[in-house]
Amino acid sequence: MIGIIGAMQIEIEHIKSVMEYVKTKEISGIIFYTGKIYGKDITLAKCGIGKVFAAVCAEAMILNFKPDVIVNIGVAGTLTDSLNTADIAIAKSVVHHDLDTSPLGDPFGLISGINIVNIECDKNVVRLLEKCAKPLDVKCECGVIASGDQFVCTSEKKSYIRKTFNAIACEMEGASIGHVCFINGVKFGVLRAISDGADEKSHMDYQEFVPIAAKNSFKVIKNFIEEY
Ligand code: ADE
Repeated sequence: MIGIIGAMQIEIEHIKSVMEYVKTKEISGIIFYTGKIYGKDITLAKCGIGKVFAAVCAEAMILNFKPDVIVNIGVAGTLTDSLNTADIAIAKSVVHHDLDTSPLGDPFGLISGINIVNIECDKNVVRLLEKCAKPLDVKCECGVIASGDQFVCTSEKKSYIRKTFNAIACEMEGASIGHVCFINGVKFGVLRAISDGADEKSHMDYQEFVPIAAKNSFKVIKNFIEEY
């Protein structure tokens, strides 16, 4: 079973439209779609925006559908000059950029209890996502993807996240899904397409580029399902 989570309707609708034999089950207000794509078992959900919804969704998916792997798909703001709108960012690891116990002497982003900052994605999942992005006519980079409960739209915040975590893209769910997968021993990956520049100049690109970015993320995950 391959689990796929997107935050918004536009991030899951293409994949939903190619699913066959679809059944639905609602848990904690989230609709889980199970069915088949390329003959493979899929569970798909729209978690809603932000880290709490993402965590609830990942936990419910793991406990109820027992996926071998969860891939978080969707859009992100770029943190690097080398990724532009419609390009692809694949996480090698994820971080919570808004998790801060630094006044207690901890590094920024430290997850107390498990004592790590970066949650590593499954290496085979990363490799396969990278391979599946190749046929697209856009740039693809692997690196750290940073999540927080905010839409990043200032150069100050953007450069803080880039410099502190060496991150290439920012969004609002990936680290929560990775965190839940990590504590449950489930493989995970995060695949995002760039929708905006995450600063004053270009965060308004978002409305225009979300549909294009969501389509690119769909193309990669579709290839991934075929190859997995
Ligand atoms: N998702 C897409 N663009 C984003 C941004 N700039 N900040 C946070 N999440 C995003």
